[in-house]
Amino acid sequence: MHLHRYEKIWLTVGILTLAAFVIVAGINAFAMGAMPPSDRQMIDPTKVDQTPPFNQPGLKKIGPNEYDATMTAFVFGFAPATIEVPVGSTVHFRVTSKDVVHGFQIVGTNVNMMVVPGLVNTASHTFTKPGNYLILCNEYCGAGHQLMAAHVVVK
Ligand code: CUA
Repeated sequence: MHLHRYEKIWLTVGILTLAAFVIVAGINAFAMGAMPPSDRQMIDPTKVDQTPPFNQPGLKKIGPNEYDATMTAFVFGFAPATIEVPVGSTVHFRVTSKDVVHGFQIVGTNVNMMVVPGLVNTASHTFTKPGNYLILCNEYCGAGHQLMAAHVVVK
């Protein structure tokens, strides 16, 4: 079989790129312990209301400009429905579901996660601009899916 010189060059580039990707992903996973975007904390989804901290969903100040937001997702809403923080605040969201799989996306930020019953998912964001940030569910979860929303008010 005859391979054109350019074909050989591109094949080499392609194979090297693939090898580099596998090596980087391998180092990340095995040497640096990178995990999927879930902290793997488990919870009994039928006892969310009795399990701290989800028995008291809400906002807690943990430092200057730093907050913990403990939230639950359910058909069809989030608790709490509104969170208010000052501009420049870093908010650590901790979310779990009380029933089915939901989504947790904060429009205009990089926060976008699945909320799976039985698992606790976390994400942090620093709100540098004032505004009303929409939190929405982006996993179809039933007849009221489109009504499922909450807000982060940044003043
Ligand atoms: Cu919850 Cu869609």
